[in-house]
Amino acid sequence: MKIATGNDHAALEVRSLVTRVIRDLGHEAVDFGTTDDRSVDYPDFALPVALAVRKGDADFGILVCGTGIGMSMAANKVGGIRAALCHSEMTARMARQHNDAQILCLGARVLDADTIETCIRTFLTTDFEGGRHARRVAKIMAMEGR
Ligand code: RB5
Repeated sequence: MKIATGNDHAALEVRSLVTRVIRDLGHEAVDFGTTDDRSVDYPDFALPVALAVRKGDADFGILVCGTGIGMSMAANKVGGIRAALCHSEMTARMARQHNDAQILCLGARVLDADTIETCIRTFLTTDFEGGRHARRVAKIMAMEGR
């Protein structure tokens, strides 16, 4: 699979970890930066990742900022996108099983490296359960633009 990745300056230190885990799983990382520690605005990186996922240029996305909050808020503004802010194996699993999230958002200033790796591995190896959850996800998507 192709996994679109993006981060801001607050998450610079976990860039290589994110890419390594994606490659360990046999996927290709498509990186949208940022690549150095100059202060940047996280929406500028959430947008291209979200658009890549929406267009089908990437299968999933991973966005990391200091808390993960700004990235998730920004990515969820892009039509068709479900970005989930996760902080554990359980939340990363549920984001896929129940919410069919396409983008995983993480906080580099909140989570340790092991937890970040666990979230990525879980997110990229868990399928959507469908059924009653598909009905609920459809209701979320029907709220767009209201
Ligand atoms: C940057 O200082 C910080 O605001 C950003 O990384 C993120 O935490 C925003 O939600």
